[in-house]
Amino acid sequence: MKKNFILILDFGSQYSYLIARRIREMGIYTVLQSCYDISISRILLNKPNGIILSGGPLSVYDKNIKNPLIINKDLFKLDIPIFGICYGMQIICHIFGGKVEKSKIKEYGKSNLIIDFHSKIFHGVQKKSIVWMSHFDEVTKIPKEFLIIGHTEYCAIAALIHKKKDIYAVQFHPEVKNTEFGETILKNFVINICKCPKNWKIHDFVKKTVYNIKKRVLKKKVILGFSGGIDSFVTAIIIYKAIGNSLNCIFIDTGLLLKKEKDRITFLCKKENLPIKIIDARNRFLSKLTGVSDPEKKRKIIGKEFISIFQEESEKIKDVEFLAQGTIYTDVIESSSKNGFYIKSHHNVGGVPKKLMKLKLIEPLKKLFKDEVRKIAIQLELPKEILKRHPFPGPGLGIRIIGEINENKISILKKAESILMQELIKENIYDSVSQAFIVLLPIKSVGVMGDKRTYEYTAVLRITNTEDFMTATVPHLSYNFLEKISNRIINEVDGINRMVYDITSKPPSTIEWE
Ligand code: XMP
Repeated sequence: MKKNFILILDFGSQYSYLIARRIREMGIYTVLQSCYDISISRILLNKPNGIILSGGPLSVYDKNIKNPLIINKDLFKLDIPIFGICYGMQIICHIFGGKVEKSKIKEYGKSNLIIDFHSKIFHGVQKKSIVWMSHFDEVTKIPKEFLIIGHTEYCAIAALIHKKKDIYAVQFHPEVKNTEFGETILKNFVINICKCPKNWKIHDFVKKTVYNIKKRVLKKKVILGFSGGIDSFVTAIIIYKAIGNSLNCIFIDTGLLLKKEKDRITFLCKKENLPIKIIDARNRFLSKLTGVSDPEKKRKIIGKEFISIFQEESEKIKDVEFLAQGTIYTDVIESSSKNGFYIKSHHNVGGVPKKLMKLKLIEPLKKLFKDEVRKIAIQLELPKEILKRHPFPGPGLGIRIIGEINENKISILKKAESILMQELIKENIYDSVSQAFIVLLPIKSVGVMGDKRTYEYTAVLRITNTEDFMTATVPHLSYNFLEKISNRIINEVDGINRMVYDITSKPPSTIEWE
């Protein structure tokens, strides 16, 4: 049976996931696949309706960089429509014998696209429109089988098409909202050219997933790494619907949790009728983390300890065959290696190390974006406390205490976080921002309080707004509010004498500091 989907070959662009989002927003299923993990034969086997080649930091002419193997002429003989974006366009030209060179003027930001020739890909697009550019290379000579269909002031070849085949390419980014007709262009490719039917309906998701889990698990048991956030709650409820009490939710108290988190979890699980076991592992985590300051090492230690505990717990329960996790698509994308570079290892990604576990993984939300998980949570009628709760990372305060962790720093940070939460709720700001927290820096500075010199830690207030946690902006909150937080924390928390406000968006920064 034909699967009907669009395959996005990801060459490492920060915008690749946006292409996936835009297509899913059209109600069409799409898969984002690293260009390093795919072969022509696998593409042939799955037969997507269309292929999009994403942008990326690579350069087709740089001899020091190994271009992915998938990049060869066979890709264009599959009789599947192809759309190259940015680096994707440069690859197409390179393979067909065109020329790609370093741009004389780097184009980053808005540009005016002028359409020179009408094509199916530009159906409904105005002759002159704004597009979003982000490139340092450009096509300077097109292959003879191609035709230029658009240019900008600084980019003479901004869009092209193959004269006979369904191959299209643009230098700009139609997936970025700043491209005025970006959605139209993507729709033209996915719906008009690839003829991909609308088959991605989130409301069918729960029914289908419950059925599949039931069929897969049968009479065996499942343990679930339960963190109490929306992802693990939705995962738990779906699995519980499928197998009832054969689900064992394990909540690990790492000692790196927010104040009163254990009570919150116990209350909500009772309310939702979820079977939960709370494990006190505070000493274990702290002793393993003592003396470690490298963020990735800390993440790895925390992740490994989680797995060890799950393994021990699974051995206590008869017939456990599966480990469930609330992994979502963004976790997978951000942790995946792009050309050997990756951002950070989100702790619930990477499968189960063979040595540590014989359990099979169940990750029902693995292909969903955060806002899609929220839609499902609404459909499942989860309480507001879960729906509206800001995400809290698996490694917890462990990655919000920069550098080495100790009991004193944990206690300082917990108190500061609790004040922030009280104020956010009191001032009705909590629900209008996506995530807010405090980061404790390993920097001490001099202050003066009650005429006395202090020498204490600096803390950062981090507040962000985001749709999907892949990009984020900083809300413009009032100075009165910021000052109030700062005053309360400095007056009430021993150990902090200076507060700063992080005004960086993502990218270039990430939301968490480690
Ligand atoms: P970053 O820092 O990558 O964060 O911009 C994006 C979102 O992910 C959360 N985050 C994590 N969540 N395990 C998680 O479950 C992790 O290891 C992890 N690291 C970051 C972060 O809080 C933000 O919401």
